[in-house]
Amino acid sequence: MKARLKVDKNFSISEVDPRLYGSFIEHMGRAVYEGIYQPNHPTADEDGFRKDVLNLVNELNIPLVRYPGGNFLSGYNWEDGIGPVSERPKRLDLAWRTVETNEIGLHEFYKWSQKAGTEINMAVNLGTRGIDAARNLVEYCNFDGDSYWSNLRKSNGLESPINVKTWCLGNEMDGPWQIGHKTAEEYGRLAAETAKAMKLVDDSLELVVCGSSHSHMPTFGDWEMTVLEHTYEYVDYLSLHQYYGNQEDNLENYLARSLDMDGFITGVIAICDAVKAKKHSKKTINLSFDEWNIWYHSNDHDEKVKPWQVAPPLLEDHYNFEDMLLLGCLLITLLKHSNRVKIACLAQLVNVIAPIMTNPNGDAWRQTIFFPFMQVSNYGRGTVLQPLVESETYATKDFEKVPYLETIAVVNEEQNELVIFAVNRAKEIMDFRIELGELAVEDVVEFSQISGAEIKEVNTEKSERIRPVTSQEFTLDTGVNCRLQPLSWNMVRCSLGKK
Ligand code: AHR
Repeated sequence: MKARLKVDKNFSISEVDPRLYGSFIEHMGRAVYEGIYQPNHPTADEDGFRKDVLNLVNELNIPLVRYPGGNFLSGYNWEDGIGPVSERPKRLDLAWRTVETNEIGLHEFYKWSQKAGTEINMAVNLGTRGIDAARNLVEYCNFDGDSYWSNLRKSNGLESPINVKTWCLGNEMDGPWQIGHKTAEEYGRLAAETAKAMKLVDDSLELVVCGSSHSHMPTFGDWEMTVLEHTYEYVDYLSLHQYYGNQEDNLENYLARSLDMDGFITGVIAICDAVKAKKHSKKTINLSFDEWNIWYHSNDHDEKVKPWQVAPPLLEDHYNFEDMLLLGCLLITLLKHSNRVKIACLAQLVNVIAPIMTNPNGDAWRQTIFFPFMQVSNYGRGTVLQPLVESETYATKDFEKVPYLETIAVVNEEQNELVIFAVNRAKEIMDFRIELGELAVEDVVEFSQISGAEIKEVNTEKSERIRPVTSQEFTLDTGVNCRLQPLSWNMVRCSLGKK
């Protein structure tokens, strides 16, 4: 099979906001305890953080981590996580029906984020709480002067403000499962007033208002419209959440799910812009896809978990080869929308539907999905070019025209590199031609692929067999010609000369 990508440096989509490669850590399951934090682990540092986990997080090069939830957020008192650890309350977390010890709170997570070289995307509880708790938290984190909450921060050991820039106004408030679930009207009003107060404390904040929990919510569309009607002038981003799964065990249909993500994003952009037009506003609301991933392997297990444990294993999906392929397609889809999707958070980071897993008595290791994320996060920086793709298509149960080739190219001006990411959805070899217009490629610096595994094969603590392998199957002329293996994830890095 043959396929072609044409790009031209004069036709770009957008510069990539680095926050597109964000992730998420919620106080749930083993994400925090036994995930990032395990004081009795042999690799634990002086603060109890696992260094083996930190090393893997560093490999992923994550600029932003959403915290502390998720559903957990809607019953959380942030004040429980400050002050002497021995005096912190143990609380029932009603979202996951577990016990939260509060051993890790704001200061500890901030310390971890610094070690991980990432910024916090802080979320405020708009389930059981509201304006007051939110504006106090902003004052605690960001205020530099002499005030009650900033002085409390200082007395708790942090002289300088944390300066959290990106904030979420609650989590999935459209979902009936959410503690303090609200109608769009109720949430829209609360979010607007909370945003207003937060920005009065610090007008440099960037605020994310909740969109739908997924695109098939019965209120989808109306929710976004109503919430934006109330909040448009106070917020900067609207959130999207979506998880995919192959419950029906239909590979072709599963690999096409990125088209669903594409349609979801396009639809939400249309709604944002409709409200913009209606309001005669000059401001554009961008998108924060702040929960996305594959989530379904652990569902049956999680139904049997006994309530009120501390950090029980929850949502521990073990990702296989086909999940890795879909994750690659989803990453490419986010890049295609980088002009409007400015923030995205792979949910989550460690143990809970995560690229990184830990054994409490052993090592931290990389799931299959770790690798495409790592490559795109490290090399997909710069300017995304408009892709012109020629590819045969196929039809599935849910999608009419699925291209066998999913691809995108990013010019990294700093490194003087052009990087192409591609998924071959076909079960046969694809001869992939990349035509570059005025871009002069000097050399192919790296052509790596993930291919050749059994569809359901997974990585384990003992074997990370599913990982990128270098390929020499390319030639260079006026463009680049690469041989893509059947069902494969691919990255081609080219050094650029001057033309
Ligand atoms: O990431 C797991 C859960 O998925 C989050 O807590 C919630 O926001 C979403 O439903």
